[in-house]
Amino acid sequence: MEIKDKTILITGASDGIGKETALRIAAHGTKIILVGRNEEKTKGVVNEIVKTTNNEKVDYFIADLSDQNQVRVLAEKIKEKYSRLEILFNNAGATFRSWKLTSDDIERTFALNHLSYFLMTYLLMDLIKESGPARIINTSSSGHRTGVIHFDNLNLEKEYSLMKAYRQSKLGNVMFTYELARKMAGTEVTVNALHPGLVKTNIGIPEWGLIGKLLKPVIFRNAISVEEGSKTSIYLIESDEVEKVSGKYFYKSKEMNTNEASYIVEDQKRLWEVSEGLTGVHWE
Ligand SMILES: NC(=O)c1ccc[n+]([C@@H]2O[C@H](COP(=O)([O-])OP(=O)(O)OC[C@H]3O[C@@H](n4cnc5c(N)ncnc54)[C@H](OP(=O)(O)O)[C@@H]3O)[C@@H](O)[C@H]2O)c1
Repeated sequence: MEIKDKTILITGASDGIGKETALRIAAHGTKIILVGRNEEKTKGVVNEIVKTTNNEKVDYFIADLSDQNQVRVLAEKIKEKYSRLEILFNNAGATFRSWKLTSDDIERTFALNHLSYFLMTYLLMDLIKESGPARIINTSSSGHRTGVIHFDNLNLEKEYSLMKAYRQSKLGNVMFTYELARKMAGTEVTVNALHPGLVKTNIGIPEWGLIGKLLKPVIFRNAISVEEGSKTSIYLIESDEVEKVSGKYFYKSKEMNTNEASYIVEDQKRLWEVSEGLTGVHWE
């Protein structure tokens, strides 16, 4: 099946890498489902895509993905409206300066960056499997390399730092990818993770207020454009080269090893079980 005949869901599609990926993929005529958390902004992206690509098969949904109830409602709406989903691009992410729990009592970086990928994928899995060959792509980060899963203190209570929480969540993305790929072996569903590079997006900037705005040019001195930073996600979405590749991590559209901790199968399984417990689901 050609990419134009497929349906793709992109989270974090209202800005940065998600938005750019949506724009590029929409140019092929693919059916695009954007997920954002701000209606006006997400609608603006829909309009921009339709205007620049002439592809009118662009839909959107709104949800705060750090709130599990909203993820569940979102997945229900998607399943009601769509009978096929060939590509799920889990991409929404953020960093937070201060420690805060979500309404589910989970530290918000872990809730958004890791658990939303886990729960969205679980809730849409039947639809994805029925649509096979299908691809699940998870945006991680090279930040995972110095990440640790603090199994005894996942919420990082009393020892919070923005980077500690971010790295933990991004290592979670890699370990989730590896364990899910193993579970999907023998099916028509592939699962891969990626690092987009250091990309000139807004991630983290609003959290730092005026300081963020002022420091942006310094932080992004060596960063690449969103166009460049979306190349690996676009590659994983549309390239025939990765049709059968699963359980891998990519950077600059090439397979790369990840940190040692990410390959410890016992810890992958432990994270999986903890994630099931925190989301109240159980994968067969
Ligand atoms: N930029 C980099 O250098 C870099 C490097 C490595 C990895 N990454 C990863 O790339 C992914 C995309 O980030 P980006 O750089 O493109 O950042 P971005 O421009 O800030 O985009 C993040 C997207 O996630 C959405 N989002 C944030 N919080 C959300 C929530 N609670 N519920 C639903 N959606 C939410 C944002 O919505 P709004 O538009 O409403 O803010 C936006 O659409 C992230 O997973 C990030 O960790 C980025």
